[in-house]
Amino acid sequence: MSEISYMSKASLQRVRVLLGMTGGIAAYKAAELVRRLRDAGAEVRVVMTESAGRFVTALTFQALSGNPVRSSLWDEGAEAAMGHIELARWAEEVLIAPASADTIARLAQGRADDLLSTLVLASSAPLSVAPAMNQQMWAHPATRANIDLLRQRGVRVLGPASGSQACGDVGDGRMLEPDDIVQGLLQARGPRPLDGLSVLVSAGPTYEDIDPVRFIGNRSSGRMGFAIAAAAIQAGARVRLVAGPVSLPTPAGAERIDVRSARQMRDAVVACAADSDIFISAAAVGDYRPQTVSPAKLKKSGNALALELVQNPDILAELAAMPAHPFLVGFAAETNDLEHYAREKLERKGLDLIAANQVGEELGFECSENALLLLWPGGRDELGKADKGVLATALVERIARLHAAARDGQARA
Ligand code: CTP
Repeated sequence: MSEISYMSKASLQRVRVLLGMTGGIAAYKAAELVRRLRDAGAEVRVVMTESAGRFVTALTFQALSGNPVRSSLWDEGAEAAMGHIELARWAEEVLIAPASADTIARLAQGRADDLLSTLVLASSAPLSVAPAMNQQMWAHPATRANIDLLRQRGVRVLGPASGSQACGDVGDGRMLEPDDIVQGLLQARGPRPLDGLSVLVSAGPTYEDIDPVRFIGNRSSGRMGFAIAAAAIQAGARVRLVAGPVSLPTPAGAERIDVRSARQMRDAVVACAADSDIFISAAAVGDYRPQTVSPAKLKKSGNALALELVQNPDILAELAAMPAHPFLVGFAAETNDLEHYAREKLERKGLDLIAANQVGEELGFECSENALLLLWPGGRDELGKADKGVLATALVERIARLHAAARDGQARA
C-alpha cells in the first residue's frame, strides 16, 4: 500500500485560528490577514493587546472576523460569553501578527500579565509568530536570544521580511505580507490525511423504550466514538456525530445529532450518508426493541413478564446495500473468538474495515482504555492497549490510508 497516497492538499478549512495582534504599525496589515485566513477557510477570533488598539480599532477586526474582539483579561461581559481558558482551548492555531519585540520578549519569559500572553500559556495549540519591528531592534542580541528560545520551544517564526520600513530604515524586520503568512501557516501545518473529506461517526448506546420509565440499553459509554470524531477533526475532516444517549461533551468542531433509539439513529445516519465519504459505526446499536411501547408504566402483576422483541434495522448493512455508499467502518465487540467473529462480520456486512475489541478484562465498554484488532479485506493489524484518544488517532490514520487506496483503485478501474 502506498504510504503517501492519502496525502491531500493542505487547507485551513474549518481550522480555528486565534489571531493575536500586538502594537506595531504593521497592525494595519493584519486586517488583510484576517481576510486571507478566512478565504483559506479558517474561523478567526482576534485578540488585541492594549498597544495594538493604538494603531487599529477593534471594530474593524470584529467586522472582518465575524466574531467579537477581545483585548482585556478583565472584561466581565466577554468572560461570561467565552472565558479566556475556553478561548485558549477553542484555538487550534495561535498566530501572533504582528509580533512586536516586546511581545516576543514576554513570550520568551512565559509571562501571563495580559490576555494574549495568558492565552498563549493556556493553549496547547501550535504557536506561530510573525515578527514586525525596526531592523535594529530585530538585530539586537536580546531579540535574537528570545527568538532562538522560542524556536527551541517549537514556536514557528514566520519572517520577518527585509526592505524599507515605516521608520525610514532599510533592513530585516518588516512583517511578512498576509499571503505569505497564510502560506507559512499552511506549510507548517502540512497536509492532513482527511482534508476535504466528510466523515460520519455514530457513537454510544441506543435506548429502546419499554414504557415511559424503562428502556433496554447497553453499557457503551460513547467514549470511543467521541474520540474518533475528535481525531477525524484533527485529521482535517468535516465531522458529523450521531450520538446515542451519552453524557459527553461534543468534540470542538463536530456537528452533533442526538438520537435515542436504533431507528432514530438509522434515520439520522441514512440522512447524512449521501454526502459522507466515510461512515464509522462505533455505536453499540441495540439489535432488538420491544414490539410495543406501553403508553403507561407497566405494573407488577405477580407473574413473570414476557417482552416480545423485534429486530432493529441493521444500519451498517443498510448502508452497504446502497449503490454509492461511503467507505464503511464497523466495530465488533466480542467476548470470545474475536478474530473469527470479526472477519465474519466484515464479510457479511460488506465492510471496508472492522475494528474489533475484546470486551471484559477492563477493556472496551465503560473504561478509558481499549485495544483494537483491525481487519480489512486482505489485511490485518493490531493496535495495542492504549488510551481511547491514542487509539482513535491511529485508527483514523489507518482509515485515511485505506480510504485513499480504495479511492485510487476506483479511479484506476
Ligand atoms: N450495527 C448496526 N446496526 C445494528 C447493529 C449493529 O449498524 N442494528 C453496527 C455496529 O455499529 C457495529 C457493527 O454493526 O459497527 C457490529 O455490531 P455488533 O452488534 O457487534 O454486530 P451484529 O451485526 O449486531 O452481530 P451480533 O450482535 O450478532 O454479534
